[in-house]
Amino acid sequence: MKEDRQLRTPFFTKLKEYGQINATPFDVPGHKLGRIENDLLDYIGLETYMLDSNAPMGLDTLSRPTGVIREAEKLMAEACLADKAYFLTNGTTVGIISMIMATCKAKEKIILPRNVHKSVISALILSGAMPIFIRPEIDLDLGIANGVSYESVAEAIKKHPDAKAIFIINPTYFGVTSDIERITKLAHDNGMLVLVDEAHGAQFYFNERMPFTAMEASADISASSFHKTAGSFTQSSVILTKGKRIDHVRLRSTINMLQSTSPSALLLASLDVARKTMYFQGAKRIDRLLKMAEDARSILRTIPGIKVIDKDYILSKGGFDFDETKVVIKVSDLGITGFEVYKIMRKKYNIQLELAESHIILAVLTIGTTKEDLDNLVFAFKSLSKKYYKLRNKLPKIKFDYQFPETYTRPRDAYHAPKISVELHEAYDEISAESIMIYPPGIPLVIPGEIITQEVIDDIDFYVKKGSVVHSDLDNGYVKIIDKEHWMYWEGEENDL
Ligand SMILES: Cc1ncc(COP(=O)(O)O)c(C=O)c1O
Repeated sequence: MKEDRQLRTPFFTKLKEYGQINATPFDVPGHKLGRIENDLLDYIGLETYMLDSNAPMGLDTLSRPTGVIREAEKLMAEACLADKAYFLTNGTTVGIISMIMATCKAKEKIILPRNVHKSVISALILSGAMPIFIRPEIDLDLGIANGVSYESVAEAIKKHPDAKAIFIINPTYFGVTSDIERITKLAHDNGMLVLVDEAHGAQFYFNERMPFTAMEASADISASSFHKTAGSFTQSSVILTKGKRIDHVRLRSTINMLQSTSPSALLLASLDVARKTMYFQGAKRIDRLLKMAEDARSILRTIPGIKVIDKDYILSKGGFDFDETKVVIKVSDLGITGFEVYKIMRKKYNIQLELAESHIILAVLTIGTTKEDLDNLVFAFKSLSKKYYKLRNKLPKIKFDYQFPETYTRPRDAYHAPKISVELHEAYDEISAESIMIYPPGIPLVIPGEIITQEVIDDIDFYVKKGSVVHSDLDNGYVKIIDKEHWMYWEGEENDL
């Protein structure tokens, strides 16, 4: 039964009222609700500017909400079966950093899969926590990292009974989930907290056919990008919590350290209305979406040279569940890489995919996806197949092994250590002082404090040549390593950071 109070949009309603009363604005923002001239205003219109207020009386304060933001957050918590919700205006990036900093102190251990988003590495540096990485399930046919098995978490817990928390991704970028319910139970039985990255799983909260949510699994805390899959504006996310293990005073002050004191009202309003839409229409519209997706998949399956990744496939590879709003297609049997398909799709068919890897592409579907969009995708794949399948080029070599390097010291120690920069090939056997990621999907090849192996160097070379964007601090072929000669830690002197 739906609750009528979910029809309310407390923050959005108040914001609209404020836009309409035409108050004399001696506050910021400086555009004074659109009383300026500029090209953006001409393009998007005065109405949008009138909603971009900062913190006028009556609109509450995000850092310590007691009014309409608090009400809107309560409705969000109820809609997601959480005990508490915190609105975020700097994405799940800030959600992840906040939840790790609020739960793990310097030198405390956190168990986490290697295929974490780069915000987790930032959180390790900021908190000083010690990462205990577990190897995710690897699909060598597709060249991607999936979820973590229950057994691998159990083994890590056994080896590190003093760990403070377990970090789970629900789902991965490609829609694969882990057995979050059992893992949560095991973690709690061992006195550990469960932190969940639901950047790609906001829609799970609104349809029973979707995989399990962190809150259903009784995980302690999750961060969810409403903007990615639940219809709010880019950067708007939410932290959800359940149970009594989270210290809310510490969480609140950590979020406040990281977020702007001038949060965008447009982002907050977009969360408020997205929650209402998903609460009332999510179930039906996701059902419709899943049907459209299945229809599209069944045609895509008949196209020579491409392979549709579906739930059966994911389960056969050891995955726990699969988010069927993600269309994952293996394209490398056409003789071209996912990277090439990504470019061709945009240039030739005006289709913007979410991401590409060497063997696959990912199209993200939401309740905003139409049948026509899916028809366009199917049409584009039919033409690609006609053009490339017959040529049967040599298949690109599979490149993905994912042996992550050994840790020498905590990411925070490495971050604070003296550094020098060297050319990549000179970095062999040195200790990295930076993260080197391929983006998307933001998987770290090496993080601060790890030893740079030959394999890391070869992987970076490979991704650069394939045209993937490699993110490092220095974009000129150099990497930052620890200057061991001037590093006290190298002499065995620990620091207490
Ligand atoms: C797995 C994962 N976690 C976290 C994030 C960060 O989310 P946001 O973009 O909302 O900051 C991303 C972003 O792509 C992601 O892919």
